Amino acid sequence: MTREGAGLTLDRTQLIGSLFALIPVPVAVVDSRGRLILSNSAFADIFSGVQNIDSVPHHELEVPGHGTYELETVPLNDQGMKIVFAQEITNEVQLRRQAVHLEKMAAIGRLVSGVAHELNNPLAGIFGYAQLLSRGELDPSIRRMVDVVLNQAERAGKIVQNFLTLAAKTEPKRTAFDLNQTIRNVAQLREYQANVENIIITTDLSKDLPYVWGDPHRLEQVVLNLVVNAEDAIGDSPQRPGSVHLKTFVQNGRIHLTVTDNGSGIHARDMARIFDPFFTTKDRQRGLGLGLSICSEIVEEHGGELYAWSTYGSGSTFTLELPIRPEIAPEAVEPARSFEGVCLKGKQILVIDDEIHITELIFDVLTRQGARIDLAHSGMEALEQIKKKNYDVIICDQRMPGVSGQRLYRLVESWNADLRHRFLFVTGDVIGAQTGRFFAQVGVQYLRKPFRIHELLDAIEGLINRSQPLGS
Ligand SMILES: Nc1ncnc2c1ncn2[C@@H]1O[C@H](COP(=O)(O)OP(=O)(O)OP(=O)(O)O)[C@@H](O)[C@H]1O
Ligand SMILES: [Mg+2]
Repeated sequence: MTREGAGLTLDRTQLIGSLFALIPVPVAVVDSRGRLILSNSAFADIFSGVQNIDSVPHHELEVPGHGTYELETVPLNDQGMKIVFAQEITNEVQLRRQAVHLEKMAAIGRLVSGVAHELNNPLAGIFGYAQLLSRGELDPSIRRMVDVVLNQAERAGKIVQNFLTLAAKTEPKRTAFDLNQTIRNVAQLREYQANVENIIITTDLSKDLPYVWGDPHRLEQVVLNLVVNAEDAIGDSPQRPGSVHLKTFVQNGRIHLTVTDNGSGIHARDMARIFDPFFTTKDRQRGLGLGLSICSEIVEEHGGELYAWSTYGSGSTFTLELPIRPEIAPEAVEPARSFEGVCLKGKQILVIDDEIHITELIFDVLTRQGARIDLAHSGMEALEQIKKKNYDVIICDQRMPGVSGQRLYRLVESWNADLRHRFLFVTGDVIGAQTGRFFAQVGVQYLRKPFRIHELLDAIEGLINRSQPLGS
């Protein structure tokens, strides 16, 4: 076909030639064995190394620097020649990968919170017995070991709590605290491992740093993640001794913490992605790529910012900025409590938990204080016992197979409403919306696992003082 108009006359071959050359869609003609006979410039630009299209996948072909393509072929003549054209599908593939990634994240979130929940019971046992042990007469060297178990169990409990909080997106705890102290804790915690790897951790902490308003354990998790990342980056570089320097100061009305290392640094192409969940340059044993995304989330919750600066090959600086709340003062440090004074002599207490360690731990703690304890390992068993005996306190796990804590509470309430005020719930879960509503509605007392012994005793004392003696 020849088209004539406005003084322009093109013959057919010329027109098709120009069309083929200039069309922005990559198009080529191949012979019956897939060998390239002709291609337009768009095709040549993208698939410059391809001589035979049968040698490359036609589906989701990734071309570095260009994107992802789908190759389609249309028969051209009876000698088997074909037209090949490429359709770009980069966005579709990315969207699909993102959806898979989000699904994976959600699944991991569920898994992590399940694991965290399961860990709370053994931790409550370890933490509880370590507390009991540390109260007794101990040889100083054994006391030191017991103290380590105690501190580490408490720390593990907090990490689990962080995971649960992160998964359930509940409001984190808010208090005024000294960020410098958090940094000292982390530096102390990492000191041993860093020494082994010839890494020196140094600090330069501003003497008049204002208190931070937020959750000290979650921010400790942030600092810890940054320091561990710095150590990893040093591990990837030949530079020794390695150095991790933590500095705090106030600038532009905000609290700043910088963590500077002389490790591998971050490649410019990775800079935009390091805060993405699952972005990692480490192998599977060393990293999941979750550290910085968890950090960002925590920092955001605190109204702060986290960003990085790096020269590839010579190190990085991560800066954490937090707002200053001028009106806050730190909570008075809770004095070390002795629970020897709490007397439960003659009190009847029922302990209901399907975890044998927990019931035994509570049994051990309370019998030492003079209480008489009955144990029940299920809601049904508990109900039978409650009907037979007049308990001063009923300590009940919130989540049990069969009759749950909440259900048991309702059953007992309908049988004898006075007994409501004698319930103390123990929960290994984060207080989710439904449980939170229940606790708030009925105004029942609860403790979170792993708990401190004095918290348990305080709660029991409070219940006993508050509840009216029953007429029987
Ligand atoms: N101080 C640093 N120096 C160099 N690269 C870093 C530094 N901190 C983070 N990165 C880079 O950012 C990536 C993501 O860090 P992130 O903490 O999110 O995950 P990870 O450390 O790989 O794994 P995880 O924290 O889950 O164990 C790291 O794999 C690394 O490439
Ligand atoms: Mg990390």
